[in-house]
Amino acid sequence: MADPYPASDFDAWADTYDASVFGNQGFPFEGYERVLETVVELAEVRPGMRVLDLGTGTGLLAERFTQHGCHLWCTDFSIEMLKKARQRLPGARFALHDLRQPWLKDWSQTFDRIVSAYVFHHFEDARKVEIILELAHQRLAPDGRIVIADIGFETMEGWDTARNQAGEEWEQELYWTASWMIPELQSHGLMATYRQVSYCAGVYCIEPGNLDKGG
Ligand SMILES: C[S@@+](CC[C@H](N)C(=O)[O-])C[C@H]1O[C@@H](n2cnc3c(N)ncnc32)[C@H](O)[C@@H]1O
Repeated sequence: MADPYPASDFDAWADTYDASVFGNQGFPFEGYERVLETVVELAEVRPGMRVLDLGTGTGLLAERFTQHGCHLWCTDFSIEMLKKARQRLPGARFALHDLRQPWLKDWSQTFDRIVSAYVFHHFEDARKVEIILELAHQRLAPDGRIVIADIGFETMEGWDTARNQAGEEWEQELYWTASWMIPELQSHGLMATYRQVSYCAGVYCIEPGNLDKGG
């Protein structure tokens, strides 16, 4: 089966990506800057923390963490997006990596914070959970935290309302629903909260609870 989300789609978007998110008042980037601010707020970083940004794109989320004195590790599967991010953040470390593949052998360390924005809606819900569990078990430092922003809704009713509001801008992808995801993550021993930020995007804050229960 053809890959519905190939890296080449994102390579082609890299030059115009920043213009498509800033000041956007429609679906799906409505409130983009508030969404990124919320990731930083919920991450509660301190200078010197090691932050891993998954699907970094042109580095717009990672940049906010460097402004807080954090050290950045950034991944993406698009060579062209990574080129832009390298230009924006010369002090960060970068790796070409597809999140659907096993983790990078060269990056075996742990991170104080793992963050991501507008990436996980390319994965089925079960795969989202698998990736989060693997990160929580293997890539998080003690007292670490995972903060993920994406297109998502509190409930299926919220999803329907957003689809109506978006009208012709709506595109059907693998969005999150907190009413399903939060209990699912809890059933695997993670503590998770969700905050809706715009009508179509929100932020999950995830911490290890009793990791013995699953994953
Ligand atoms: C909408 S952009 C978000 C970029 C950035 N995080 C932001 O908030 O501006 C989605 C990014 O996820 C990356 N991406 C999508 N699927 C991926 C995958 N399977 N593995 C790694 N990166 C992926 C794309 O290349 C793109 O840079």
